[in-house]
Amino acid sequence: MNKGQKMTQTRVFRFDPAVDKEPRYETYPAPFEGRTVLDVLKYIYENHDSTLSFRLGCAGAGQARCGACAVLVNGTPALSCKKLAEEGMTIEPHPGFEAIKDLALDFDREKERVTETTIRVKITVNPEKCDGCRDCVLICPVKVYEVQKSGGRGVAVPVDIGSCCGLTCNQCAMFCKNSAIKIEAIT
Ligand code: SF4
Ligand code: SF4
Ligand code: FES
Repeated sequence: MNKGQKMTQTRVFRFDPAVDKEPRYETYPAPFEGRTVLDVLKYIYENHDSTLSFRLGCAGAGQARCGACAVLVNGTPALSCKKLAEEGMTIEPHPGFEAIKDLALDFDREKERVTETTIRVKITVNPEKCDGCRDCVLICPVKVYEVQKSGGRGVAVPVDIGSCCGLTCNQCAMFCKNSAIKIEAIT
């Protein structure tokens, strides 16, 4: 079935709190060249283990619009439908959200928590570092950001700072691969 496709061993975090005493890692062979991390997860689900849980939302219809597929790839936050797969990857749940099972995160709970704990904050986006990738737009549970055109390119702008819980969440700052976001509490 995968004739001519280079395969790699992919390590995946597994934990089902209903049956497992402890988390573990399973390793699965999968093709990776020219595929996204989400493609690899789907391959593992279809060819090795249909009990693997992970989230996807918009990836079937478009690309990188919902944030549901957030994971850690080799220790770095990424949207699995956008991130290209690499040889010898380790895929783990994103640590900023509670994992329900394996890689599937509980975004509803995070949204509730963020909505309950609003603190006054100042959010600064460094326009020199921001490349307009929209990852902060997607990952923020209360949709604080928009990417706006500035000087012919996209830059993230916090348009609804009043909804931000501030330092109890910090997901946007953690997720930004360019370290462009700074969040400070206003005292
Ligand atoms: S602030 Fe960071 S995550 Fe947000 S659009 Fe800019 S580079 Fe992407
Ligand atoms: S810290 Fe960032 S991700 Fe969290 S609510 Fe505020 S703007 Fe959104
Ligand atoms: S599935 Fe929607 S951003 Fe990845």
